[in-house]
This record gives sequence, C-alpha cells and structure tokens, in this order.
Amino acid sequence: MANSKYEYVKSFEVEDEIMLPIIIVVHIDNRDFSRFSEVHEFVKPNDKRALELMNECAKAVLEQFPDIIFSYGFCDEYSFVFKKQTKFYHRRASKILSLIISYFSTIYVTKWKELFPQTEMRFPPSFQSRVISCASMEVLQSYLAWRQRDCHLSNQYNTCLWELIRNGKSETEAQEILKGTQKQEKNELLYQGFNINYKEQETIFRQGTCILKTEVQHIVKYKQDGSPVQRLRMKAIKVHSKNIASRSFWNDYLCLCRELGHFEEDANKIKPEYVKSFLHVSKLMPSTWIVIRIDGCHFHRFSDVHEFEKPNDARALNLMNSCAVSVLEEFKDIVFSYGVSDEYSFVLKKESQLYQRRSSEIVSAVVSLFSSMYTMKWKEFFPQKELKHPPYFDGRAVCYPTSEILLDYLAWRQVDCHINNQYNTCFWMLVKSGKSKSEAQNYLKGTQAQEKHELLTRLSGIIDYYNTLPLMFRQGSSVFWDKQEEEEIANQGKDAVGKCYKVVVDHCNIIEKSFWEAHPEILGEKFNGNFSSGSYGSLRRITCCDCKVSKLARSNNLSLPEQPATNFL
Ligand code: GTP
Ligand code: MG
Repeated sequence: MANSKYEYVKSFEVEDEIMLPIIIVVHIDNRDFSRFSEVHEFVKPNDKRALELMNECAKAVLEQFPDIIFSYGFCDEYSFVFKKQTKFYHRRASKILSLIISYFSTIYVTKWKELFPQTEMRFPPSFQSRVISCASMEVLQSYLAWRQRDCHLSNQYNTCLWELIRNGKSETEAQEILKGTQKQEKNELLYQGFNINYKEQETIFRQGTCILKTEVQHIVKYKQDGSPVQRLRMKAIKVHSKNIASRSFWNDYLCLCRELGHFEEDANKIKPEYVKSFLHVSKLMPSTWIVIRIDGCHFHRFSDVHEFEKPNDARALNLMNSCAVSVLEEFKDIVFSYGVSDEYSFVLKKESQLYQRRSSEIVSAVVSLFSSMYTMKWKEFFPQKELKHPPYFDGRAVCYPTSEILLDYLAWRQVDCHINNQYNTCFWMLVKSGKSKSEAQNYLKGTQAQEKHELLTRLSGIIDYYNTLPLMFRQGSSVFWDKQEEEEIANQGKDAVGKCYKVVVDHCNIIEKSFWEAHPEILGEKFNGNFSSGSYGSLRRITCCDCKVSKLARSNNLSLPEQPATNFL
C-alpha cells in the first residue's frame, strides 16, 4: 500500500467488530421487490420459481462461505446464521454484510435464466442487508421464531388478499375486508369463500425454507477390491419445517448443535424487546460527507482466471466505470465517485437522508446494485469470455466532516492509483523483458518514482513512456453529474426538457483544486476559500434541473480544468 501525506484520512474509518460470543446473523431482503416482481410478472401471492431462485442463491452462499451454517428464507428475504466462533473477516459487520449481499446479488443474476428461461431480466435486482447480533441461543431462537411467524402471517394475509382480488374485489376493498381479522377468521374465509384448506398449501409458501449444513458420507475413491473409501463432508441441504425454532427440529442436527448450541426449551413467546433489538440499525453521523468504498473480493484471482491484461485491462476498468454510472443514476444523493483497479468510492452529499443515513442499508444497497450490474454487463465488455467465477465486492461507509478532508480522501485514492500503477507497469515490463517475478520484485525494491520513470523509458525505448499511457490507467476514473453542452441539449429537442445534467466518466486530476473549482456544483459549497460568495455556494448537482443553473455556470465563464501536469501526483 502506498504511503502519502493523505494517509491520515484512514483514521476516520470506524471499527465495527462484532465481539464474541455474539452470534452473527445477516438478514437480507429485496430493496424494491414489489416493482421487481411486477415488472417480471411474478405469480401472486407466491411465485414458486422466484422462491426457488432465492433458495438457490442461499445454497450458493452457504457453499461459498463455510462459516455460514444455517439459513432461513421466505418471500424476498433470507437470514444467514454464522458459526458461533466464526472469525470471518475478523467479524467486521460492514465487511460481512456487504460480501454476503454482493455474492447473493451476483448469483441471483447468474441463476436467473435457470429459473426464468423465458423471461429477460429487465433491471438489476438489488438487495439490502444488515447484521443482527444475537447475544445467546435464546435470542437466536426468538429471531428464527419471529421470522417464521412473519412468513406465516404474511403468506396467510396475501393468500386471502389475492383470492379476494381474483374474485372481483379491488385491492382496497380486499384490504378493508381483511383489516383486523385474526388467523382463524382468515382460514375460514379461505375455506368457506374459496374452498381452500390453508394447511394444504405448499410447505414452501407456509413454512419458508431452511438451507443448512449437515455432515454426509462422501465417497472419495474406491479401493482395489471395489469397496468405497468414505469421508464425512459438509453439505448444504434444503429442508422445510413447521417450527424451525423448536427443540425437536434444531436438536436433530448435530452440526447446528455443535457450531451454535442447543435450544433448551421451545420458544413460546417472542419477546418484544428482542424484536426491537432485531430492528435496530445504527445511523451515520449527520452533516458529514459519506463515502461508500467498495472493493472487489479476491480480484487478484478473478483477474487471472479471466485473463485480464496486465497491469491494466481497459475492458475491466470500463466495466467498473459503467457500473458506477448506473449507481449514480440510481442513487441521486451520490454527487461524485472515483474508481481505480477493483475499487470504487461513492460520495454522498453531506445532507443526504438516504435510508435515514442507516449505514448498513446504504452500503448494502450500493454494493448489491454494483454487483448485479457488473454481472449483467459482463458480456457487453467481455463478449468473448464466459464469467467463470461470481464477482463480488465488499463495502464500508466512512464519514468525513469537511470538504477539505473529503478531498484529501479522494487525493489519497488517486495517489494510490498512481503509485500502484507506476509500480505495476515497471513490474510487468521487467517480467516481459525476461526477469522472473521475484527478480522483478527485488529489482524494484526501494526505487523512487524518478528511477521508475527512467527505467520505463529505458525498457520501452520511448521517452517519457509512463506519460504516454492512457489517462484512465494513470489517474483512475471520476464519475459525476456534469452539465450537458448546449449543442447536446439542442439536439435532444423536446427530450432535453429538465435534463441539463448527465453522468459523465472522466479521467482527471482530482488532487488539483482546479478540478473542483471548475465543477463547483459537485460539492455545492465553498472550500478552501477559493470561491467568492454568491451563486456558486448554492449551486447543487441536480438531475432534473432548472436550465438556468447550467446557463449560470456558463455565463460565469468557468474554464475547464487544464490537462493535469504529467507527473502530477
Ligand atoms: P481483496 O480485496 O483483499 O479480496 O484482494 P484482491 O485480490 O481483490 O486484491 P486487491 O483488492 O488488493 O487488488 C486488486 C487486484 O485486482 C490487483 O492486485 C490485481 O491483481 C487485480 N486487478 C484489478 N484490475 C486489474 C486489471 O486491470 N488488470 C489485471 N491484470 N488485474 C487487475
Ligand atoms: Mg480487492
């Protein structure tokens, strides 16, 4: 990792380790399920294929992450329970919740065609996740009982609702009929009104689904005499149970008891104070810039498997940029983003109230959308390559109290980009010239920027070789809302009404203040005393803006940032 004077910004990152012996549960649900299910014409009230797709994703999650031992899901949600002693990503909450949601989102996209062969995925699925801390087995038991009770209640309600609608009632009439009804009344309505015995409905609808790890005998090889050699292996299996929080169900699975513990009694009542704790989510500090930084997980391996060009693969970087554009278009509070290699930083405006500033919701929504987009867009950028491994990302949220510190944060990332890129360019050129990887590493040990510069010129035979490399490699990518040119607006005719701004990808020097001076609307406030008071201070990045804003910017003759000095970083 590169060292620079900006490194101090790391001290704003907060610890979020979940201490032992707390049991970690990650709860996920679809961020916009009603729209997603509407657009993809899911059967109401339950679409079995959609549920099986969720189950397939959960199974893939259990297979990918050995420390997840149990999961339970229904409708558009799933809960994943980790082994009690897990050290997964050193028990850091944001790492855990983001990795799970990212992997789940990617698998949802990749498995879609298996479950919905006739239906095109029209927009990316996006999920949210949070960590539920269970202080004891009793709390975990209550959590599971609570989720299964919700499964039952919502399924019973929705079954009644859609039967009423199918039989001529409007949605509001149906809701009115069901208002205040008890379980028994709903069962009677179904039986007498529609000849449906609720208890005979499919178990997957009424009870939800558990995917859990259990030990099974596995044949590793056969001896010469033909007899099998068997070993115990952990396998994810799918089960349904009427009461997943009962002793009889839980205690039947040795793995669950060994890795988590027993249920001492049956859970008769779900304590409201426990439910309150399940719903608790911490919020990010008000009036601070929020940066969500995401980073590809094991991208070293991912880039090898997919034969990315070394040290920079323009297609891979452009794919990252394209996903960032989608994220900006979706979350209007993101005013700027900066990406390099397998990471991206998204800056939310200071006063953002996105998800009431609940950290896990913001992080997971951004990571999930980015991951879905990356998977969906893969073929666009790598038409000749199959996606061999699911790409997934981790994410974190960090608050920065002032614009100056925020800009130092971004400068830190850009310095890192430059230092890593210069090193990697040298490294791979040395390898290409015949050195082994360890020889190249030793050769570069302790070299300064100027020496690397000269080395590149010497090896390539091109003067100032480093600066002939594409700006995207040297400066990373900045994605932000920018004013459209007048010509562009004019060409769009009527369509341009209210669309003066668009998301652009640029490869510019964001360390130099000139960039921020030329784009005052990004931060929307004065910084470093560089701006005179007045209209600049009140300019805001807007998606659907009053045309006057862009005219105002132009009439003040804002010059474009100069091409950055070549070895500027
Ligand atoms: P974790 O993030 O800790 O999971 O590790 P990681 O393997 O993702 O490595 P890290 O995030 O530290 O660094 C990103 C890695 O992605 C680089 O070391 C490269 O191996 C790889 N990578 C990213 N972009 C490119 C590219 O354009 N070309 C190639 N060849 N590799 C790339
Ligand atoms: Mg990485």
